[in-house]
Amino acid sequence: MSDDKFYFKLPWALQSRVEILNMLENDITESSWSEYHGFNVLPLGTAPMLTSPHLTELHKRHPFKNMGIIRMDPYTNYDWHTDGVRGVSLNALISDPMARTCCLFRNSHSVTPMRRAHSNFNVTELVYESNAAYLLNVQLDHMVLNLSSKPRYMFSIEFMEDKTKLTYEDLRRESEFAPILNVTTEK
Ligand SMILES: [Fe+2]
Repeated sequence: MSDDKFYFKLPWALQSRVEILNMLENDITESSWSEYHGFNVLPLGTAPMLTSPHLTELHKRHPFKNMGIIRMDPYTNYDWHTDGVRGVSLNALISDPMARTCCLFRNSHSVTPMRRAHSNFNVTELVYESNAAYLLNVQLDHMVLNLSSKPRYMFSIEFMEDKTKLTYEDLRRESEFAPILNVTTEK
């Protein structure tokens, strides 16, 4: 099965990973974080968007509902699930890509209720590359593990359009074929 079913690496980079990580580690207090769907989240406003023509264009086409950082504490696991509202998310890893954290997908359609318990499943890992941005099919079963001693920080966008209006396949096709979203970053 192609990994494209689960995630798609966008042809442009976020570029500000280290700057955002420094901000999170040095300038942000615990009280800035709030709880959202079992994660700690930090809204980022629109500042990083201004530095990226790709995000600005994407926001015009598909307005963002939330853009921020999702924090997962050390030695925690977010169990198998599909997202309740989102059809697709845009993610980029901010914490160290070499840290022991992972995001796994499995094919929901092969997992009947009878097979959910006490079975082995084929899984696909999304191995985040530094500065790379990805679309994720969050309507397929996925889970996250943080086995490192540091928080796992993920830049993430939630779109105004929910899963009934914007699917992963829609946005992946648009990102493949819409010229502005394919602009390679200027050197
Ligand atoms: Fe999720």
